[in-house]
Amino acid sequence: MSRSTVWVRGALVAALLSAPSAVFAGSPQSLFMDNCSACHQSTGKGVKGAFPALAGSPFVQGDATPVLATVLAGRAGMPAFKDDLNDADLSALLTYVRTSWGNKGKPISAADVAAARAKLKTGKKAASLQAH
Ligand code: HEC
Repeated sequence: MSRSTVWVRGALVAALLSAPSAVFAGSPQSLFMDNCSACHQSTGKGVKGAFPALAGSPFVQGDATPVLATVLAGRAGMPAFKDDLNDADLSALLTYVRTSWGNKGKPISAADVAAARAKLKTGKKAASLQAH
């Protein structure tokens, strides 16, 4: 085997290993890696002073309504995901976040996401008042 063949093989392996979506394709974990881990980190521990930890967070494991409102509509430096992810994906992703890294929150169903989405549309004013 020539030197260049070895290099090309090494580069291919490196490319596959560095693409999380290729490794975890379609899983709730891949949704988290693709949409959230850049800020909240793959460990869910966040970055102190910039991105809050989702691991061990009482907010994340508590009532589903404010968690859904945060992720659908965004908040401060947190982007909104209502136009990027459908109900099934958000259900899988948020259930992953609420039950990973030792978290013990209840799952969130696609129906829960749909209901929160509908509320967001009709009750914009009420939702923004609640946030303060
Ligand atoms: C661009 C960076 C960024 C991305 C991407 C991001 N977040 Fe956030 N997130 C933040 C910031 C900043 C906050 C704190 C907002 C604030 O100060 O109110 C936050 C807050 C949160 C909170 C509330 C935490 C608490 O204790 O109040 C949750 C839950 C959350 N994010 C979940 C997610 C999920 C799930 C995703 C992926 C779908 C995601 N975030 C993607 C930056 C991000």
